[in-house]
Amino acid sequence: MDKSLESCLCELLVLHNVSQCYSRGGQPVTVLHDINLTIVRGQTCALVGASGSGKSTLLNILGLLETPASGRLLFAGQNMLNASAEALARLRNREIGFVFQSFNLLPRLSAMDNVALPLSYRGLSRRDARQQAQVQLQQVGLADKLHDKPADLSGGQRQRVAIARALVGNPSLILADEPTGNLDSQTAEEIMALLLGLNRERGVTLVMVTHDTALAGRFGRQIRMVDGRLQEGAAHGQF
Ligand SMILES: Nc1ncnc2c1ncn2[C@@H]1O[C@H](COP(=O)(O)OP(=O)(O)OP(=O)(O)O)[C@@H](O)[C@H]1O
Ligand SMILES: [Mg+2]
Repeated sequence: MDKSLESCLCELLVLHNVSQCYSRGGQPVTVLHDINLTIVRGQTCALVGASGSGKSTLLNILGLLETPASGRLLFAGQNMLNASAEALARLRNREIGFVFQSFNLLPRLSAMDNVALPLSYRGLSRRDARQQAQVQLQQVGLADKLHDKPADLSGGQRQRVAIARALVGNPSLILADEPTGNLDSQTAEEIMALLLGLNRERGVTLVMVTHDTALAGRFGRQIRMVDGRLQEGAAHGQF
């Protein structure tokens, strides 16, 4: 196979000299400095670092939720920085699942309807979307909670709903921002086992922000953010 085509197929995300700036009190502040990073398909990658170091900003850029101030971003070999808002939204919907610390479920919808939502955005009928949501909820162990609203679920159950919602469209990438940050240690362990199992069984690429370096050690790759710069961990014995 052609070498460049081969690398496109296995490189899911490539960042070249990506920087991000925000305005603070009218002054521009650089929060990511010249990030170079390649995420390979099927990889598990933990992102650690102090509060304010830029982890969520980087995750939002990887997830096509934020546009960097400068640099290049390739998703599956395609340049994302000149993509239209519609193309980005479509890619997010089809290729990326997000899991957040605070679950971000819609309170008025049942577990099943929360999970069905990304499929409805894709244009599936309500019936098909709900049917696939049901299967996905069964796979995360919530077969008996289909009709419960988020307020009636425990923290761990809410996060399982969020994971089912992230997975229902069969994405190639899961981005998780401290998904166990609001959970007790046993529930956190169950959620971690679920996420890592999904990587093993479905080959889904997993990038997760965590404050927990022991947890990060269970990932294939560890990256540390320090003041908006990346340090690759394991190779330098820092983890
Ligand atoms: N929308 C924004 N506008 C202005 N500044 C922002 C914005 N989002 C983030 N920042 C700033 O960018 C820096 C990086 O923030 P980010 O949320 O990426 O950090 P983090 O590593 O995820 O921190 P935490 O561990 O506390 O979640 C911080 O100094 C933050 O104040
Ligand atoms: Mg953060």
